[in-house]
Amino acid sequence: MKVVKEISSMQEISDYYRCTGKKIALVPTMGFLHEGHTSLMLNARERAGIVITSIFVNPTQFGKGEDFGKYPRDFLRDSHICEKAGVDFIFYPEVDEMYKGNALTAITVNKISDKLEGSFRPGHFTGVATVVTKLLNITKPHTIHLGSKDAQQNVVLKKMISDLNIDTELVVCPTIREDNGLAMSSRNTYLTSEQKEDAASLYFILKEGKRMITEDKISDTNIVKSKAAEILSNSSPDIQLQYYEITDNEELEPISDLGKFSGEIVISLAAKCGTTRLIDNIIFEHNSIS
Ligand code: PAF
Repeated sequence: MKVVKEISSMQEISDYYRCTGKKIALVPTMGFLHEGHTSLMLNARERAGIVITSIFVNPTQFGKGEDFGKYPRDFLRDSHICEKAGVDFIFYPEVDEMYKGNALTAITVNKISDKLEGSFRPGHFTGVATVVTKLLNITKPHTIHLGSKDAQQNVVLKKMISDLNIDTELVVCPTIREDNGLAMSSRNTYLTSEQKEDAASLYFILKEGKRMITEDKISDTNIVKSKAAEILSNSSPDIQLQYYEITDNEELEPISDLGKFSGEIVISLAAKCGTTRLIDNIIFEHNSIS
């Protein structure tokens, strides 16, 4: 496994492997890797001859007052995890390497980026879409592997890849969870062990939402949303729900009456657990009853 810090070297390496006919897979990360990232790397390993993991805490996707400065970083630990997962190259640039000069270009996926997470984190998805475009141009992968936990990020990037005819396939892999159901995230490191137990309620109310829709056949999503919020405030009063929304998985349009909806549903949520902001979701197929 090699660590590459310069953009031009990474581009030359990717060019070389593309010329030899090797498939390249990219697992983009912000480091402080966990089992969720390992599963992405193993999935990439199965599909491609060359696996690149990028580790870059991207400043442009953090808003003012967010955790860019304190985002956990441990390159040595990360590099061991990558090596064990069979990664060939870690792309590990400095901020000055990624954002040198006076860049005047950014990628915005309109409409979808302003909803849900976007309404709490304005500009976040422009930062994500721009850095991912840069990473795709630097590593030139055939596939990019991302986790299902960031459902809106996946919808935004899928639309960007399609709208801009980018020749890379987005592969979405399942969310990896702790034994209690809490979705794995580098930010879980901010939680105390009590908060980790409490935060398990978040996955519980997602599963409850799915159960109310698929088993109780409730089609008015306002009923599902208010029942889920009630369960959370009774079981975990210290967790503040920011949103719990039921949408389609194409443009994240809210669905009010499920009786008329067929397709993939996403129930997504964000919540504050102390000072830590957590997100999670559940995705499933639904067939209209009419
Ligand atoms: O999901 C993440 O870790 C980041 O948003 C990504 C895709 C690596 C872009 O910085």
